[in-house]
Amino acid sequence: MKRRQALKISSIATIGLTATVHGGCSKNNILFNHGVASGDPLAERVILWTRVTPSKPGPVKVNLEISSDQNFTSIAFTKVLRTSSLVDYTIKYDFFIRNIFKSGQTFFYRFNASGSVSETGKTKTLAADVNKIKMGVFSCSNFPAGFFNAYQAAAEANDLDLWLHLGDYLYEYPMGGYATTNAESIGRVPSPKHEMITLSDYRMRHAQYKSDAGSRALHKNAPLVAVWDDHEFANDTWKRGAENHSMDGSEGDFFARRSAAIKAYHEWMPIREQENKRKIFREFKVGKFIQLLMLDTRQFQRDQQIQPQNYLTKSGFNQASFYSDLNATHRNLLGAEQLGWIKERVNSESFDWTILGQQVLMTKLKFPDLTKMLKEEDIPEFLKPYLKFLGLGIPSNLDAWDGYPADRNKLYDVMKKANKSFISLAGDTHNAWVSELTDAQGDKIGIELGTPSVSSPGITDAIKLDKTKFATEIVKMNSELNWMDPEHRGYLVLDFSEDQMEARFNFISELQKVDSTIASTKIFKVLKNKLEINTEKL
Ligand SMILES: [Fe+2]
Repeated sequence: MKRRQALKISSIATIGLTATVHGGCSKNNILFNHGVASGDPLAERVILWTRVTPSKPGPVKVNLEISSDQNFTSIAFTKVLRTSSLVDYTIKYDFFIRNIFKSGQTFFYRFNASGSVSETGKTKTLAADVNKIKMGVFSCSNFPAGFFNAYQAAAEANDLDLWLHLGDYLYEYPMGGYATTNAESIGRVPSPKHEMITLSDYRMRHAQYKSDAGSRALHKNAPLVAVWDDHEFANDTWKRGAENHSMDGSEGDFFARRSAAIKAYHEWMPIREQENKRKIFREFKVGKFIQLLMLDTRQFQRDQQIQPQNYLTKSGFNQASFYSDLNATHRNLLGAEQLGWIKERVNSESFDWTILGQQVLMTKLKFPDLTKMLKEEDIPEFLKPYLKFLGLGIPSNLDAWDGYPADRNKLYDVMKKANKSFISLAGDTHNAWVSELTDAQGDKIGIELGTPSVSSPGITDAIKLDKTKFATEIVKMNSELNWMDPEHRGYLVLDFSEDQMEARFNFISELQKVDSTIASTKIFKVLKNKLEINTEKL
């Protein structure tokens, strides 16, 4: 409660002056405390978003204004929109540029209501006739873990045509839970303080995440294309449950929780909604240049993760039973409907680049035996139950594509038959990865770039490892992996041209205070025709 009051007071001091001057006792004073955002750009459409904070309950009328210049000297388009508590006072408008703007032309938008004006947002649709595009790739933005300096750095660079968020846009944990160690001292205690479970919890948490200055700066700077991962719901979600959802009834029904999470997500994110609200896989095209397929590997059809501890017997780990279950062809990550859609889309037209924007690592990955890299006293408690599995040579992350090898084979088969080499973009791990993906025949099928987290802790934040030694060892033992970074937070910038793509990892220097300095950068070049990676050391 105290936090909400503080937020309101500071907003009145900064942007609510007009409302205070004109507002009488009975007037509904409107504030725009959560910024503006745009998203899901198509050739002629883009979603425009804001949220109002009214001084009294009831429906609110908001005026949208669009202009080709930042000062709004002439208004090109205006529209009266309505919102209410039914959608948590959020506003979403799918703007059709008609003959007002050209496809790909930058324009500005803002909202006003009872004398109060929102910040100004800058956005554009996806031009059909370009052969250059720059996109940012982000994942795992954890509010109590640190400031969203990666967003701020990207906003200040002011050169993205588009940014992708591959999931874990927000986290469900309570104060005292995951990544909250410094939350109190940096003023980022989760709101609500308890784990988010109900609709009101999910809404409140979304509101808090959109109070971060970096988040607001990037949202108003360029259009977003986002997909959810598990933490928009609860840790390790699958289609009928989640690791972090108690099945004893103490956290209610999982499906009710999932519906609440989905409703709040659609309210608070600038995403174009489909009839089935659980369905967020969708296509974005840039002329004949880029096909971007955003996938849902998380909750649409995913079967439950395999738990290696279930295969421990008195005589040891039952490898045969483990692999028989792991490789079962009926186990879904994408599921038939989504895979069928991918097949249909990749065979529909030809593009210079085919990109899969998705949540979890596709690269086949085994971790080195960490017991050989750590002193006994440096082994953290959370790691101990997993250590015995590292020496067995089984895949290290069964929540990723490695846990669903049959579905990965099906996807590779679809891509190979369509003659598509592709780029997979993944989040989830909090660390940076570059791999060359190979199919069951050993043929190179694609490139994968794993983007680091915005703020969630990485491998060497959680485990006291020699960073260089760990990175060298894991690259050596995994044939697909070319490079990884276990240490830094940041984001990825992809600069596409017709025959090559530059992938730049920007690592930020600071998390515990506002500072958007990029401390280091690592650049790779991906050549289209040969799917080859070139490294450039800076
Ligand atoms: Fe995450």
